[in-house]
Amino acid sequence: MRMVLGIESSCDETAAALVTLEDSGERRILAQAIASQDDHHAPYGGVVPEIAARAHAERLAPLIDQVLRQAEVELADCSAIAATAGPGLIGGVMVGLVTAKALAMASHRPLLAINHLEGHALSPRLADPDLGFPYALLLVSGGHCQLLRVEGVGRYRRFATTIDDALGEAFDKTAKILGLGFPGGPAVERLAESGDPRAVPLPRPLVGSGEPHFSFAGLKSAVLRAHDSGRHEVADIAASFQQAAVDCILDRTALALERMGEVTALVVAGGVAANRRVRASLEGLAASRRVRFVAPPPQLCTDNAAMIAWAGLERLAEGAEGDPLDTAARPRWPLDPEAEPVRGAGVKA
Ligand code: KG4
Ligand code: ZN
Repeated sequence: MRMVLGIESSCDETAAALVTLEDSGERRILAQAIASQDDHHAPYGGVVPEIAARAHAERLAPLIDQVLRQAEVELADCSAIAATAGPGLIGGVMVGLVTAKALAMASHRPLLAINHLEGHALSPRLADPDLGFPYALLLVSGGHCQLLRVEGVGRYRRFATTIDDALGEAFDKTAKILGLGFPGGPAVERLAESGDPRAVPLPRPLVGSGEPHFSFAGLKSAVLRAHDSGRHEVADIAASFQQAAVDCILDRTALALERMGEVTALVVAGGVAANRRVRASLEGLAASRRVRFVAPPPQLCTDNAAMIAWAGLERLAEGAEGDPLDTAARPRWPLDPEAEPVRGAGVKA
């Protein structure tokens, strides 16, 4: 049996978790703790990097203590210490990575420097032991919107990315325009329930295009115009935005499935995968293509440390021995370094 301590601090959640993998393949989250910083950032309508880094520095050590006590284990019982080493807000990433290095040194355990996106990409396998490679993955978070073929641990082929905003960013900006506060995604989803998704005509950027990528900047501007016109109920704008966003990801995912070749499942992960309309629509697409649909439970979709510990366990199972203690934190770290750059300025590949 292997046990890994996972640490996550790349954005605005400080998190620690202990996850085990039995020789039988059974996987278990022994303990996990998350401290959200929503109250810290809410007054600014978005994550303030310096405030985030300070909050991580204050909260991380007590959270690690808490999960060790909760699981009644010692650091020395761990097979490795895994921490997000990027991509993300660099101050926060450094807090988590330096903490993991110190713990690794003190406990004589290997350090595993984890790509946060790999944490999201492999998280569905923590919840579903039957999910095998290769699978089609729609990774939708606050900073990323990508379609990938997950071929194995550390082996990712990117089929599409966004040429401007990420999907979570579009939800957050829509929430800001509609005055729903921060964080935006869950607030938009909640309000959309009481709105009419056909009430406000909004564009579906790139739908029908042979170019495989995503674009949400035009949709966001249209939301702003619809709001400023004063002609629509806020709930109708939220519902119509969510529907337009869902139409975009369905069209883009269908195209990727056509081009990706054989896959075992269609999988969605990342913060926006917590959205019920997004999940249900993708489930419908998967059913129509006769492919299995997998989505981790919502609390594993948004940022958490269990997925980081799990990515560490996956790497150990592949024979990884650990990363050097001078591994640097990386603000950018693409899952598929071979992927071609796409047009557009603010590309978050
Ligand atoms: O994966 P995540 O927790 O952090 C990043 O790595 O970015 O994703 C956060 C993003 C935010 O943009 C948030 O608004 C969005 O996921 N999100 C949602 C929902 N829950 C979180 N978007 C739509 N509906 C939700 N229920
Ligand atoms: Zn994330």
